[in-house]
Amino acid sequence: MKRLVSAETSDAGLVVSVHWEDGFAARFHAIWLRDNALDPETRSASNAQRLITLHDIPVNTSLAAASVAGDMLKVEFAPEAKTVEFPSTWLRSNAYDVNAGRARGWMTSRIETWKNGFEVKTITGNHRNVLENTVALRDWLAGVRCYGFAKLTGGPVASGALLDVAGLFGYVRETNYGKWFEVRTEVNPANLAYTGLGLQAHTDNPYRDPVPTLQILYCLENSAAGGDSQVVDGFAAASRLRAEDPHGFELLTRYCARFEYRGAGDVHLVSRKPMIELSPDGELTAIRFNNRSTAAITDVPFDDMSSYYAAYRRLAEIIDDPAMAVSFKLEPGECFIVDNTRVLHGRTGYADSGGSRWLQGCYADKDGLLSTLSVLEEAAMVNVA
Ligand code: FE2
Repeated sequence: MKRLVSAETSDAGLVVSVHWEDGFAARFHAIWLRDNALDPETRSASNAQRLITLHDIPVNTSLAAASVAGDMLKVEFAPEAKTVEFPSTWLRSNAYDVNAGRARGWMTSRIETWKNGFEVKTITGNHRNVLENTVALRDWLAGVRCYGFAKLTGGPVASGALLDVAGLFGYVRETNYGKWFEVRTEVNPANLAYTGLGLQAHTDNPYRDPVPTLQILYCLENSAAGGDSQVVDGFAAASRLRAEDPHGFELLTRYCARFEYRGAGDVHLVSRKPMIELSPDGELTAIRFNNRSTAAITDVPFDDMSSYYAAYRRLAEIIDDPAMAVSFKLEPGECFIVDNTRVLHGRTGYADSGGSRWLQGCYADKDGLLSTLSVLEEAAMVNVA
């Protein structure tokens, strides 16, 4: 653990500069520190929720004093005459004096992009292991967070078993397709319509707002030759587009596409979202790519439409590039999960030699997965301590 060495205020007490023994330094504003005070009058000791509003903090808040006391930064806020301590590790992990100059399309350090050659077995869990062993579950979920997909082997060959996979970390997102949906293909050599058809890698349901953030695809039958599952890291594809054509990347982030699904009966889903989504400070947060569900795009100015379509085409070429795809065959009882805001999934074509392929799919959400992962990681840290 890095130790604090000094702290000094400036700007008439509106700012404190904090220094660590390894040379790291960060500035903090008095108002920010006061709002984030960790004392039990400001934050609930039981659930860490904030107990005050900004109106409870004087508008002229400043730091009357700041010093290092052991492993703590000790500050006194004026005019409240309130003394609060901040642990060194908390300050270090919440330092914001480090974020200037991020490039548009930046990603958090918890994400690693990948392309063809990535070893699926490194993120493959065993169904029984993750069910019975929290360390195995934690590692498997951490793989989803880092790589945006993971595989699970050795599960039961039973209709509905995919719901138990979602139950490992959260809840199924039920949609108009039900709790789950069937992906069933009979490969019939007598009917060419069912032979050789691949499916371009895509994200699911871009016409929903919010989009389902996780998808599980669970195999119950796969006797057809071919029909391998394919995944493409959409963040790697977007980053490649940015490197090749920064202006094209910018167009796909700046303008909304439109997505639409008109199902039988009473279903009509529409959304207006960019194909490459960035947060306001430029973090790459989501990819939406689905040729079947893309509606007429009407939010791109006339003068930019040609360039927009060139960028859209280039993104599609990158996604279709075999150098980007990872393929694997799912056996009955195996499944994979994708972060549907990042990783595209598809299917290679079938040989026309007959057979069948039966998958079941369901949606779930990433916040539940990350919550379960966070709890497991915190428990592991407590055990280590
Ligand atoms: Fe799909």
